[in-house]
Amino acid sequence: MIEHDNVSPAEDITRSYQPELARVIGKWQMTELMVLLRLQTESGENLEHEPGQFLQVSLPGYGEAPISFCSSPTQTDSFELCVQAVGNLSEAMHDLRPGDFVGVRGPYGHGFPIAEMEGRDILIVAGGIGIAPLRSLINYIADRRSDFGRGIVVYGARTPSDRLFLDDVAAWDARADLETYFSVDEPDDTWTGMTGVVTVPLRGVEIDPDRTTAAVVGPPVMYRYVAMELLAKDMREDDILFSLERRFKCGMGKCGHCQLNDLYVCQDGPVFRYTQLLGRSEAIEVWAPEEQKG
Ligand SMILES: Cc1cc2nc3c(=O)[nH]c(=O)nc-3n(C[C@H](O)[C@H](O)[C@H](O)COP(=O)(O)OP(=O)(O)OC[C@H]3O[C@@H](n4cnc5c(N)ncnc54)[C@H](O)[C@@H]3O)c2cc1C
Ligand code: FES
Repeated sequence: MIEHDNVSPAEDITRSYQPELARVIGKWQMTELMVLLRLQTESGENLEHEPGQFLQVSLPGYGEAPISFCSSPTQTDSFELCVQAVGNLSEAMHDLRPGDFVGVRGPYGHGFPIAEMEGRDILIVAGGIGIAPLRSLINYIADRRSDFGRGIVVYGARTPSDRLFLDDVAAWDARADLETYFSVDEPDDTWTGMTGVVTVPLRGVEIDPDRTTAAVVGPPVMYRYVAMELLAKDMREDDILFSLERRFKCGMGKCGHCQLNDLYVCQDGPVFRYTQLLGRSEAIEVWAPEEQKG
């Protein structure tokens, strides 16, 4: 992030909103709706993000939106973003070609607490495009394998053709030091893996709850059921991490657009402990803790 010393508060705020340029140096169409972009800052500076953090990405005339890093911080010469075409900006990002520029501000937010996760078993649960921010964490763990205990990846997609990052998925599956479980909701003739929502493979995963941290990203509806499975495995609520999506404007805790009771999702999150979300009715689907444990 750009540092601003010796400037007035007003000037400081204005400058905080100023994006820097990043050039597209690679582009891969992963599915009809998902594109993977590899970028480099024009300054050549490494953005030094943490897995789970995001950038505010902009294109003149199209607007600005938060997009998570999907590359690991261990990839230092460039960074990657995976973008789903849902509206003005994201569709325009699908039209970008190598050599084109986007504006970027960040990295912002609290990502996964890596220092605290070191030495522990890491259980990663990805649903749908939740695999994008989690790919950053999985590849970080893969590159720093001796810093962590078990590395367990559970990834569920709607159909086989919705599965993303197939090269990474094959590489994780081929590693003896990562445990992988894959499922799809709606199989086709090519699918030989498990069938069912992501909680189906998750149920079969044996863990030591005292030494496991779970990192979960997916559609909000998934969080309730994944939490139920993890609590049934006797995991502590504090060791369950969810990443939330809200509509952001400033992305840096100034406008209040993303406020969830007393939390600013952009600044306090997007990665939260399950304990931080209990009792916050808008956070994810709400349920009583007794209901989950019962
Ligand atoms: C922390 C964070 C990380 C994100 N990471 C990624 C990422 O890695 N890749 C990616 O493709 N997208 C990501 N998003 C979502 C992305 O920011 C939005 O889809 C963004 O609105 C796209 O801008 P747009 O102009 O293309 O679409 P818009 O015109 O803004 O919106 C198009 C449609 O999507 C809906 N929508 C927009 N934002 C949200 C939201 N946050 N929750 C629910 N519905 C919404 C709108 O209601 C509308 O129907 C992230 C969002 C957050 C908060
Ligand atoms: S988006 Fe402005 S405070 Fe979070």
